[in-house]
Amino acid sequence: MVAAANPLASEAGYQILKRGGSAVDAAIATQLVLGLAEPQSSGLGGGAFLMLHDGKSLIAYDGRETAPAAANEKLFLDERGKPLPFYRGLIGGRSVGAPGVLRMLEMAHREYGRLPWRELFQPAIVLAENGFAVSPRLAKLVREDPYLRQDPVAAAYFFDRQGNSWPVGHVLRNPALAQTLREVAQGGADAFYRGRIAKDIEAKVRSHPDNPGLLRAADIAAYKPRKREALCSDFRVWRICGMPPPSSGGLAVAQMLAILSHTDIAQHPPRADGLDPEAVHLFSEAGRLAFADRNRYVADPDFAPMPGGIASLLDSEYLAQRAALIGPMSMGKAKAGVPEGVRSAWADGVSPELPSTSHISIVDADGNAVAMTTTVESAFGSRQMVDGFLLNNELTDFSYAYADENGLVANRVEGGKRPRSSMAPTMVFERDTGKFVMSLGSPGGSYIINYVAKTLVGVLEWRLDLQKAINLPNFGSRNGPTELEAGRVSENLVEALKRKGHDIRLSEQTSGLQGIMRIHVEEGDMWFGAADPRREGSVRGD
Ligand code: DON
Repeated sequence: MVAAANPLASEAGYQILKRGGSAVDAAIATQLVLGLAEPQSSGLGGGAFLMLHDGKSLIAYDGRETAPAAANEKLFLDERGKPLPFYRGLIGGRSVGAPGVLRMLEMAHREYGRLPWRELFQPAIVLAENGFAVSPRLAKLVREDPYLRQDPVAAAYFFDRQGNSWPVGHVLRNPALAQTLREVAQGGADAFYRGRIAKDIEAKVRSHPDNPGLLRAADIAAYKPRKREALCSDFRVWRICGMPPPSSGGLAVAQMLAILSHTDIAQHPPRADGLDPEAVHLFSEAGRLAFADRNRYVADPDFAPMPGGIASLLDSEYLAQRAALIGPMSMGKAKAGVPEGVRSAWADGVSPELPSTSHISIVDADGNAVAMTTTVESAFGSRQMVDGFLLNNELTDFSYAYADENGLVANRVEGGKRPRSSMAPTMVFERDTGKFVMSLGSPGGSYIINYVAKTLVGVLEWRLDLQKAINLPNFGSRNGPTELEAGRVSENLVEALKRKGHDIRLSEQTSGLQGIMRIHVEEGDMWFGAADPRREGSVRGD
């Protein structure tokens, strides 16, 4: 079964499974089609995290982009040392990191691939050559984007000669991407990282007319994916595993669940009239506490390791103390805790995150499972197109400012460093048997943490099926206001939360949750796949 953000991509992955491909094989075919049909979200020019369960062990592959060797903490500052306006830093070459997704997929394929590498490229090559129908979401995002048309290559691809964006259903061909994919199908990831394509990326980044960047072909050639130990913790009768730093996703989700296990949120499932205010109160307070720690402590562990190890932030006594800070009224803004091992002051990081990104969940015939979240960061990344794909703007996930009155920001820019992420590909297992229960994840920048935690609470605490849990209105707090999904919540809920001292904001919160869950029916175990109705996700499986 494949659950992905676009029907063409789910179909490509499913056909690979039908031909005997492994979950990793299917993830590769799915990703390559997503890069074509959902270019706003992910692609060859971006990065990803992939969690793989092979029935015994769990591996966390880190394909996060890296900062160029020449970059330093001043990357996003103006001549006077002030942080640039966010988009001024983002659009152009400056924000582009060395792409990671293809090297990471190659590593996973070497270890878990079953079909030949080149075969996995066929579906995307055929679609790039023959064209695919522009989806409603792609048409809308292109139409509304003020920056994409400023890049001549993107303008020629995404718009007609008069400068109009293509309508829904227009058959869009991408021969440049077909050529790139053919080269990588033949020559492996080296064809991308060490040849013509890396040189083309450097030229594009360097030559931007008013915001050139520091990324060079040598940075791309030097890129290395990493295998990391998944971050796992127990929650009631389950074991929840997520991506460790440089993502903050796994840690923040685990902290929220651990904090919530000290509360009676299980007794507050959604009611006939919508979400129970007490559930939203507890969940958003847990979010405040988790985001305070995330903002302060999480960054690339090679550059800014937690003094006591990441485990100090998951210590049960520490989290019990954090949970005790939740009272009947909202705490407003939480302060970061001081876990074991932290002595010096750390400064909080600031980095806004914006719409795009994609999540893929896959289970193959042998029960191997994948959870992969993949991104070019903001919609259409840096808006720089080369060789048929878009370059990421992942470096804007670093903090623009590198210090404040408390000290240095852990997530400041440094050469060769990975920017902090919120992506939270997640797997759930039975605690006692180790049996696989669920694979899920979502796009949404730092909202991802709340989307994934909400879905886990929905399924594990409120016993909803995965689709119903995904469909619940989104809610939570990123340690600012309490954010509720606009148009999905009642006035009564808003009023009840205000009485508990919550500062309420209604916002879009367009999650793109996808997941696969094992369910038990009379005939035995079955797979239940779910895709978020807020985007264009679809599930294909047997
Ligand atoms: O790694 C991250 O957390 C972000 N670059 C992801 C961006 C994202 O999900 C935008 N979403 N809608």
